Amino acid sequence: MDYTKAIAGAIAKVLGMEEGALAGWLETPKNTDMGDVAFPCFKLSKTLRQAPAAIAEKLSFEIELPQGVEKAEAVGPYLNFYLHKGQQAQEILDRVLTEGNRYGSSDLGGGRHVVIDYSSINIAKPFGFHHLPSTAIGNALYRIYGHLGYAPVGVNHLGDWGTQFGKMIVAYKTWGTKPVAEYGIRELVDLYVRFHQEAEEHPEMEAEARAWFHRIETGDEEAVSLWKQMKDATIAEVKKTYARMGVRFDSWAGESFYEDKMQPIIDELRDKGISRLDNGATIVDLSEWNMPPCLIVKSDGSTIYATRDLAAACYRKATYDFAKLLYVVAYQQDLHFKQLFKVLELMGRDWVKDCTHVNFGMVSMEGGAFHTREGKVLYLDDVLDAAVEKTYEIIEQKSPDLEDKRSAAEAVGVGAIMWGALYNSRIKDVTFSYDKVLNFDGETGPYVQYTHARCCSVLRKAGGYDRAHVDAALLSDPYSQALLKAMAAFPAAVEAAAEKNEPYLVARATMAVCTAMNKFYYEVRIMAEDEDRKNARLALTDGARQVIAIGLNLLGIAAPERM
Ligand code: ARG
Repeated sequence: MDYTKAIAGAIAKVLGMEEGALAGWLETPKNTDMGDVAFPCFKLSKTLRQAPAAIAEKLSFEIELPQGVEKAEAVGPYLNFYLHKGQQAQEILDRVLTEGNRYGSSDLGGGRHVVIDYSSINIAKPFGFHHLPSTAIGNALYRIYGHLGYAPVGVNHLGDWGTQFGKMIVAYKTWGTKPVAEYGIRELVDLYVRFHQEAEEHPEMEAEARAWFHRIETGDEEAVSLWKQMKDATIAEVKKTYARMGVRFDSWAGESFYEDKMQPIIDELRDKGISRLDNGATIVDLSEWNMPPCLIVKSDGSTIYATRDLAAACYRKATYDFAKLLYVVAYQQDLHFKQLFKVLELMGRDWVKDCTHVNFGMVSMEGGAFHTREGKVLYLDDVLDAAVEKTYEIIEQKSPDLEDKRSAAEAVGVGAIMWGALYNSRIKDVTFSYDKVLNFDGETGPYVQYTHARCCSVLRKAGGYDRAHVDAALLSDPYSQALLKAMAAFPAAVEAAAEKNEPYLVARATMAVCTAMNKFYYEVRIMAEDEDRKNARLALTDGARQVIAIGLNLLGIAAPERM
């Protein structure tokens, strides 16, 4: 429950003021000895022409304490409020236990669409480790917005168009040994690499490739069929990786989907005088905004990435009437999105204000020991496999009796990598190491999952508790109190995560519950002699388990019950 409004109201009443800004001035004291909420009276000393300490003193005598507030005490310039512990504990715990996995949810979104463009891989190209942040962050935002009553629409804006598909076809026709459908991504990449090597000596191959792409563009049956098979083979393979990561999409409309939707945009830009010709190319001059021009149509008549993004944005607005459109794409494309949004603005699309480039920094792997044979690209699947393998070894040591070690290792290994991409603010560059992300005692995914499993184990061993008769007033020790506080802070973190498009806020709030849970576990005897106390502590453990499970779920990470 939020007491700030009630407290601000009570202060306002004594002073005969408007509640207005008062609530915003309330602080949370760093030291719990100083109460739960503090009002800094120096904010008023000018208006009231009184010393802050005198104001605090007067307020402490005259204030009518709102429900749930136990006392108000003047300490220097502050008025400190102490909330009624038992009542507060009861409220939080009841809320978590009754709301279950809906805890922290709301109907803030009112069912409105949030279109999230994430992962957005390129066909016949490696699904690399560098795709991890977009995939993990987009997936987490999808779940977070869903929890807040929005209707998220996940879009994988496939890179499935361009001359590279002409090259792929030439390579396949020259060196292919089996039906395209049987090719894996790595083999397709090998073909592509080989094309580039050989084309250096045989430049005529480039012209051949352009001709093949032209055939795709003009609907030639063979060309389209080969292109489509490459696309299907890639999608079938990445879907397996997505499944491991709990990632889903509602739409796979990629760049090719907009092939027939660009002309109206190109016409509109010309007719409104937004674009102009420049050496045969069509551009939008953005120098007024200190940006290079946005290229719309190249001098050879072909469209580009940006043209398709313009069409995609308009299509998404028309199709989903989104409240927000989020592009979860690396910061390297900052300029591209600035240009895109500016052109949309020039076109009078006022909904561009609802579009956000949710950018992020780089990820790299320490040591790079798992590089593939291409020498450059680190495949995401290889990283997940390595993490799972290492986790399996750890589990064999830590929990030799665990029944299904394989599935636990999969959940923990994959979760560890996902967590690594979600624990810091997006823009931070992150260097991964397996030791770091798999450290069961660090601020890691495994630590969170382990804490969850520990709660489950405590509850299992206790054989349940009596939910109808939980007396939370018995949870007055500082460890229980700290745990309740961390649980109470969770819903606001979910909201803030959506507001800032920062899933790490959920990760941090979940971590705070875990830290508090483990302190509670070590310092407080859950299976107390006294039945009522034991019952309350088990209920608290169950509440913590619930909040941790929600946190993991919102981040797209599994919450195994045993590990
Ligand atoms: N396929 C692009 C890439 O790998 C990312 C696409 C992002 N989405 C978009 N609508 N531009 O760089």
